Amino acid sequence: MTEPKIISGFSKLDRLQKIEWLIEQLKLDKETLEQLNRFQLSEQAIQQLIADLSENQLSNFHLPFSVAPNFRVDGKVLTFPLVTEESSVVAALAKAAGYWAKRDGFHTEIIGTEKKGQVHFSWNGKPEKLSESFSELKEELERDVAPLTQNMEKRGGGITNIRLKHLPEVRPNYYQLDVAFETCNAMGANFINSCLEQMGKTLKNWAKANGDFRDDEKEVEVIMAILSNYVPNNRVKVWVECPVEDLDSDADQAHALAMKFVQAVHISRHDVSRAVTHNKGIFNGIDALAIATGNDFRAIEAGGHAFAASSGQYRGLSNAGITNGNFWFSLEMPLAVGVVGGVTSLHPLAKLAMQIIGQPSARQLMGYLAVAGLASNWSAVRALVTTGIQKGHMKMHLSNILNSLQVSDEQKQAAMLYFQHREVSFSEVQNYLKEHAK
Ligand code: MEV
Repeated sequence: MTEPKIISGFSKLDRLQKIEWLIEQLKLDKETLEQLNRFQLSEQAIQQLIADLSENQLSNFHLPFSVAPNFRVDGKVLTFPLVTEESSVVAALAKAAGYWAKRDGFHTEIIGTEKKGQVHFSWNGKPEKLSESFSELKEELERDVAPLTQNMEKRGGGITNIRLKHLPEVRPNYYQLDVAFETCNAMGANFINSCLEQMGKTLKNWAKANGDFRDDEKEVEVIMAILSNYVPNNRVKVWVECPVEDLDSDADQAHALAMKFVQAVHISRHDVSRAVTHNKGIFNGIDALAIATGNDFRAIEAGGHAFAASSGQYRGLSNAGITNGNFWFSLEMPLAVGVVGGVTSLHPLAKLAMQIIGQPSARQLMGYLAVAGLASNWSAVRALVTTGIQKGHMKMHLSNILNSLQVSDEQKQAAMLYFQHREVSFSEVQNYLKEHAK
């Protein structure tokens, strides 16, 4: 590989200059420009909007924008918009949606919508001295952030709690202002971070002006002020349930499925190796809906994985059981999302996705995301305890294999037909193509 030179001021180059630099430095094909241009949109205004979402944009990276119909959630029928590169995910969601639509659908319950952030700081003094004057500090913090919170308060949100925490186990002089927020329909990251940064400044000024503090106590070192993606009180529970015998038209199969399914879920709650993969299957659904609706899936994942480890052991996020002859399958997890602002209000396809899913509130979208997680988890675990996942997976993957082997449309159609009732693997497809080239 040709190693590029260190360059300063790259971001100041225009798009063409950046591409030229890349071609020259990495000795890329001259067609690279053409290739990148092919994925640029012809509509200038939308292209600019997409380019402005990031820095150093050269082209657009396309992923399929799909839908899965038939989601019955709290009695309402919905179509889920989904963006994913994994071929079996949409099929898995659609299959689970149709299956559970016939069995009373998915149910959701919002457990809380509290978001959090911290001002991390050091202070040299007796902890009691700080806690004694905390109510006075709190008043100043609230007064100084008022210009930032007034709009959110009009919408029913704002700061709901400010606590002072001393954490000597981290460092003897380490403290936090631990702040809780309600951000209504917004994800609220910018709002929260602006409030926290203001609080950091107020804290410093307050200490400096405090007549009861010694000189060395007047110095507060603000280490950082930032929201937390760990939001266990911004939590939703979703579930499906039905009599065990309704799981399959064959009573024995229904019981076998229920027993094996519950076992598989319980393994994920005790074995970390299985738990991680189990949760990956949950995030297959959640991420696809989060991306389609312009939500920050990294924040959702980080918070979800931390919650999965909140007992001290990393566990599967879902749970299942059989109670009084009823099979139930549930998922409870934190989900901080927004439906106004950010990419959701900017990206034309995210706006369309919001229309497709019925313009939900942030609370509703929390439920729908968890439903997508439970649905993909249902399909994955059901396949694992019955046929195994490879059968369905490789069928979905067949067109990717054929595309990678650069077959003609005609060959592709013939191969799809041939493999309709046959096992798919890369080598089987290669053999088939060799045979049929003769
Ligand atoms: C593949 O993307 C996801 C699964 O591995 C999830 C699981 O094992 O439960 C099928």
